[in-house]
Amino acid sequence: MRKIIIDTDPGIDDAAALALAVFSKELDVQLITTVAGNVGLDKTTYNALRMVSLWDARIPVAAGAARPLSGPVYDAAEAHGESGMDGFTFDAVTARTVPMHAVEAMRRVLMRSEEKITLVPIGPLTNIALLFSTYPEVKEKIDEIVLMGGAFLRGNITPMAEFNIFADPEAADIVFKSGLPLVMCGLELAQMATITGAMVGALREKNPTARMVCDLFEHYRGGDLENGMRMYDSTAICYLLAPELYTTKDCFIGIETASPLTRGMTVCDLEGFWGREPNGKVCTAVDPEGFRRLFLEGLENASGAPENPTAAMWLYDC
Ligand code: BDR
Ligand code: CA
Repeated sequence: MRKIIIDTDPGIDDAAALALAVFSKELDVQLITTVAGNVGLDKTTYNALRMVSLWDARIPVAAGAARPLSGPVYDAAEAHGESGMDGFTFDAVTARTVPMHAVEAMRRVLMRSEEKITLVPIGPLTNIALLFSTYPEVKEKIDEIVLMGGAFLRGNITPMAEFNIFADPEAADIVFKSGLPLVMCGLELAQMATITGAMVGALREKNPTARMVCDLFEHYRGGDLENGMRMYDSTAICYLLAPELYTTKDCFIGIETASPLTRGMTVCDLEGFWGREPNGKVCTAVDPEGFRRLFLEGLENASGAPENPTAAMWLYDC
């Protein structure tokens, strides 16, 4: 099993992505960290705890940054609802957060692990940037960063910027300059990675997770139920499960932090105009049928107790 840490801002598409990862037999989720993004930190953290409780998952949750490194706080409540996950009634929340900041929790998990761990950020990159700035020694313990964020064409929150990068461009700049292997699953993939209401509806009675995803989808404004909801964050999880479904290109990716017109843009030099050393792999396409198969199989099998055998539950005793 591949060890991963998921940094997230749930968020309806985050919820689907977390379900795929937590129930996957190939991924061993060590830790879930939360960040402000789709909604404020209190809500993203509560949403993560609601899901961990629903799944009875033995995975620690650590709350992280409530605001970006600089600039105003933006949210996407318009797409995800006031709570960030409107539309599903959860039972009582039994899970709680570990008694430390997400950055500290990540450091401890990384430094204690004998194997390298993959970071999977699917929200703004604030926690990851803070981790690298505060504890650069952790980089030796990271295998790869596979993130959802950015776009090589156009944006979804401004003409040129994608939400996760726009929400904290200074953080993204630190992460993209980290020198670590980085895979960017950007906006364009989500236009190919769509799931209709009918597809998940057919699974609704299979298990509580499928029911949760169905109910949340009714309230999500990332596409439409008939033509397909865009599963942004699941594209990063499916890359981990089946990279062969993706077309990628190594290239230089710069983050615009200055221009008021294009702040938060991921400038991907796919043609190699600048001749600069690649700092990432941009996913330019995903096989839509392959993605749907993985997504729907994952949801269908999301029942029983999820297995994440080496999750860092010891963080609760620190
Ligand atoms: C990204 O922004 C958020 O609203 C989604 O959860 C996803 O991570 C897409 O731009
Ligand atoms: Ca997200």
